[in-house]
Amino acid sequence: MALVVATSIAGAREAMEVAPKGGSSRGLVPTMGALHEGHHELIQVARRECDWLAVSIFVNPTQFGPEEDFDTYPRDLESDLARCRQLGVDLVFQPGRDEIYPATHRTFVEIETVTSHLCGRFRPGHFRGVATIVLKLLNILEPDRAYFGEKDAQQTVVVRQMVKDLHLPVNIRQVPTVRDTDGLAISSRNRHLGLRERKAATVLFRTLKEIRTMVLQGARDAGQVRRNGLRLLSREPLVQVEYLDLVDPETMQPVSRIQGPVRAAGAIRLGRVRLIDNVLCEDRDG
Ligand code: PAJ
Repeated sequence: MALVVATSIAGAREAMEVAPKGGSSRGLVPTMGALHEGHHELIQVARRECDWLAVSIFVNPTQFGPEEDFDTYPRDLESDLARCRQLGVDLVFQPGRDEIYPATHRTFVEIETVTSHLCGRFRPGHFRGVATIVLKLLNILEPDRAYFGEKDAQQTVVVRQMVKDLHLPVNIRQVPTVRDTDGLAISSRNRHLGLRERKAATVLFRTLKEIRTMVLQGARDAGQVRRNGLRLLSREPLVQVEYLDLVDPETMQPVSRIQGPVRAAGAIRLGRVRLIDNVLCEDRDG
């Protein structure tokens, strides 16, 4: 089937009429565009699992703070469409701002507790914007499965909490983080890194891997592990640390004693670029 591009909700609904119904499954991969290898992987996994697949491309203004990079966020629609065509996507939903947030828009979704640490703490209002747009996309495109990347693990937890609390009939799938050969998690924002910054950026994943090793070797004191991690990060002078934490992977609350699986998560700044990453540390004995 040829790729359909819809810029309106009515257009998307029209395209969905030809989508298979009954026992077959519809998939959605929500994105902000400037598609890279990480998105590529999500789309490929979704393509394998679903009979009909939509990708949304919308740089969602409500999840950016006033001082954040909404204006400079990369946009590359032509190559995004080429990639979606190549991957056999059925529908690209690419609405304008007014289609999603008309002047009369008043409703937002707030999710408590799982948003209180990590990015939720340092980007006030971010997950309110994410939850609101994701709920809208789920309502518009009515997928059976929606796909999210582990790179934004807190985002997946937030979306799963919303799906559970609001009784939404959708299965949320999480796809492992895609990395460059040197370990840096692929991100739309990497293209804004200078050469020296790009090299320095690898310190985040190296630190998270080191934390995983400490946990697997039996470290129990999360504070101590965290301090060791911060020491590693501080060896890279170009890097400013926003947060580095060990959290419960289900609740996203910081832990003090490591007793079961923990997620080590960090956010750093290199100049004006903010990068995040995380790894799951599973203690096989615990
Ligand atoms: P965006 O940053 O475009 O990411 C879209 C999806 O791709 C997210 O689920 C993200 O976790 C996933 N992703 C990004 N980089 C990845 C990587 N290196 N490996 C695996 N998956 C990766 O996340 C958003 O957009 C927005 O918040 C959105 C959910 C679309 C709501 O506006």
